[in-house]
Amino acid sequence: MPDVAFQFPDGFLWGAATAAHQVEGDNRNNDWWAWEQQPGHVKDGSTSGRACEHYERFAADFAQLRGMAHNAHRLSLEWSRIEPEPGLVDRAAVAHYREVLETLRALGMEPMVTLHHFTNPRWLADAGGWESDATPEAFRRFARLCVDEYGDIVRLWVTINEPNVYAYQSFMLGEWPPQKKSAAAGATVLRNMLRGHAAAYREIKGARPEAQVGVAQHLRVFAPYRRWNPLDIAVASLPGAAFNHWFLVACRSGFAGFPLGRWERVPEAAGTLDYIGVNYYARDRLAFDIRRPSSLFSRNHALPGAVLSDFQMEIYPEGLHELMVDAWRRYRLPLYVTENGVADAGDHLRPGVLVGHLAQVARALRDGVDVRSYMHWSSMDNFEWAEGYRMHFGLMEVDFATQARRPRPSAALYQAIIERNGLSWEDLEEHYPRALPHLLAGRAGPHS
Ligand code: FCB
Repeated sequence: MPDVAFQFPDGFLWGAATAAHQVEGDNRNNDWWAWEQQPGHVKDGSTSGRACEHYERFAADFAQLRGMAHNAHRLSLEWSRIEPEPGLVDRAAVAHYREVLETLRALGMEPMVTLHHFTNPRWLADAGGWESDATPEAFRRFARLCVDEYGDIVRLWVTINEPNVYAYQSFMLGEWPPQKKSAAAGATVLRNMLRGHAAAYREIKGARPEAQVGVAQHLRVFAPYRRWNPLDIAVASLPGAAFNHWFLVACRSGFAGFPLGRWERVPEAAGTLDYIGVNYYARDRLAFDIRRPSSLFSRNHALPGAVLSDFQMEIYPEGLHELMVDAWRRYRLPLYVTENGVADAGDHLRPGVLVGHLAQVARALRDGVDVRSYMHWSSMDNFEWAEGYRMHFGLMEVDFATQARRPRPSAALYQAIIERNGLSWEDLEEHYPRALPHLLAGRAGPHS
């Protein structure tokens, strides 16, 4: 009986992902920090505060991840630390991130660096943030600084994390700073993020042609709540194009369409993806709801019996395969899984999430999709934006009183998968039995 059910390609990148504001602590100079201080904003009443103190503890954190066999790590650079005032570069912060990246390299971990992960320097937010037409140029300058400083040791760059989520949460739904509820503002933000991405892409590639530059796009599966209901079917068919694909299509073609309300050419955006970063978490079951124009007239209802995370999101590993096969068909670009994980304090669901989603990555690879990484969200529990500290996404549990890290059982499961660079039949049988028929199709089974 072959032990390994699926072998990943040599050089596959295995790691975890974080974002500066969620783990570093004391990011006092950005728009999130300012917003968190106002009572009522963060749902559990917390502020990011000292977070995981990762700004100080990064070396020990990375050593621990290396001990768990990770060979890559995704992190973001906090713009507000590097450029605390417009045009003013904090050399100590620049040196700090140099040390962070060199530490990863010395451990044999490939860094993947995000330039924008939801937070903005306070000065940028005060000047209009991504609603301002001047911001793409400010972001270009920041990208230039970063590639000048780190281009020799960073090959993988993410310009912007989840422009779709940012525009939606901050400007359409209006839950995150600056809490606008305006489709027009959301459209302006998306357009400026597209311009900012394009400018950063060109800047990085100009300095380092060998760099691989992309975005991390949040992709979701949207399905009708009632399969027979034409209104549910209609509302479930809209967000695929708008939420999942608008930004990617614009980065490929230079045409920015639907969310802007009109067709517009952004020619500098054409051809500005070397790969697509895939952040995948959940399936939404959408029912028509006339009271929710900001959500394209839909409400997300899980079906009875769906497996839900602590975040009440439906876990649906098959969706990762669906979305990657679809993205490969549309764009023919390498895919990096830049985030996937689950809010699960008890670690009851995480083993199934890990094995299930990795089995779907394996299926996509077998179908010919060029998938190059799996970055688990997250290495450790951290500040989950407007949810605060009540969502536990970590392979490691963090005791925020003592800053002690305690690996959850699934950290060891992940380590075993990384060490064999593959999924075993035992992993599948134990943690994801419902997929065995798919994975076995046309192959010798575990007991043959
Ligand atoms: C993603 C974000 C990341 C984290 C996870 C749970 O949308 O990119 O920062 O909050 O969700």
